[in-house]
Amino acid sequence: MKNGVAEIDYFGERKHALVDSPEIRAGDFVYAQAGMIVKKISEKEAAAVLCHWKKAFPELRRKDEELSRRTPAAAEWLEQVITRSFQGKPPSKKEIEKMLGVEDAADVAALYSAANELRRRQLKNSCCVHAIIEFSNYCRNDCAYCGIRKSNSALQRYRMSVSEIVEAADYAVNKLGFKALVLQSGEDEHYSPETLAEIVRKIREKCGAVVFVSVGEAGEDAYEKMWEAGARGALIRFETSDPALYADLHEGQELKERLDCIRFAAKLGFLIATGGLIGLPGQSKASLAQDILLTKELGAEMFSFGPFIPHSQTPLASHQKPALDDVLKLLAASRLAEPNAKILVTTALEKLAADGRRKGFMAGANSFMISTTPAKYFGKYDLYPGKPQRDEVVEEIRKAQQLLQEIGRAPTDFGV
Ligand code: 5AD
Repeated sequence: MKNGVAEIDYFGERKHALVDSPEIRAGDFVYAQAGMIVKKISEKEAAAVLCHWKKAFPELRRKDEELSRRTPAAAEWLEQVITRSFQGKPPSKKEIEKMLGVEDAADVAALYSAANELRRRQLKNSCCVHAIIEFSNYCRNDCAYCGIRKSNSALQRYRMSVSEIVEAADYAVNKLGFKALVLQSGEDEHYSPETLAEIVRKIREKCGAVVFVSVGEAGEDAYEKMWEAGARGALIRFETSDPALYADLHEGQELKERLDCIRFAAKLGFLIATGGLIGLPGQSKASLAQDILLTKELGAEMFSFGPFIPHSQTPLASHQKPALDDVLKLLAASRLAEPNAKILVTTALEKLAADGRRKGFMAGANSFMISTTPAKYFGKYDLYPGKPQRDEVVEEIRKAQQLLQEIGRAPTDFGV
């Protein structure tokens, strides 16, 4: 251990992780997540986990290797861009834009498989699975695409109390086995900076998990207090890198304010998860290419891009949703542009195809989230319509584990 950074033995590999807890000593068995040691565990627990994975791990890796071999592109320019990405030379903005417009079937397949192979080379088969708790659907904003916008008077609003939120977190971590939690809400001023910090602190006291906050532009004071209370990640999308489009969609808001907020959180030390919506009206391929570059520039450790899905109670009700391949191309191009990133498959992608999650993984993605919002609130967190009727969380987890098993991925952050 040196300067708060510990060396960990991960199935024989040497990895480094920040020590975010005073109780950790050299030689301890630990859970590490998102580059941080989140919890010390007993030797007995470690032995059980290691015994499970020792058997399962090589088999999963073999399966992943089999499923993630790249096929050559038909177009010479694409083959060159891919080869350069594998050599550590990222594509230019123009090249990203061209990748987003690839149409030839062999080239599309080459793009996805290259992104998937690059994912495996850089990050092996690890897959992040975060639990998300959506604790309030009140929002002071009126985003043109969003179902929980202030002026949607048809929506029944809810807010969870501090103790309900802490209880939901306790359940996700200590019963379901998650090691990373995302606390999300609309921009709801009902929760003061002090209350947000209190929620984080109480969760950290009870739960050995990394806490991400996703509460929008809550203000510098709130981010400082949440950081002090132990939150370590911030999920906040910039939605689009085009300032004019941003202003059109967000009445009374400016892109610059959103970016300032993201940069402020990054400066405090928060791991940043950010990205945007795909398929907004008037959004060009050049603009999406810029979104990828902006995500890189913001130093994001996690890319969060998902399709825009029209919601009937919004001004964009009659606008088209994008094609599944538009989203997959963006995920794949993101992987070539930032080989080491965590790239999320969002639940919105599953609105475009039943096997959207699997397809996202096969196009370079390696993370997803499962909502553990209490059942009585889940349906009311109505960002976009037709969120899949959620099964029991336990069943959701089982299905996710089955998918990961089928494609040879190992969840890094939920229990075995
Ligand atoms: N379709 C898809 N995603 C949406 N979001 C909000 N509305 C929609 C929609 N109609 C996303 C926004 C926001 C996140 C919490 O939900 O990108 O950042």
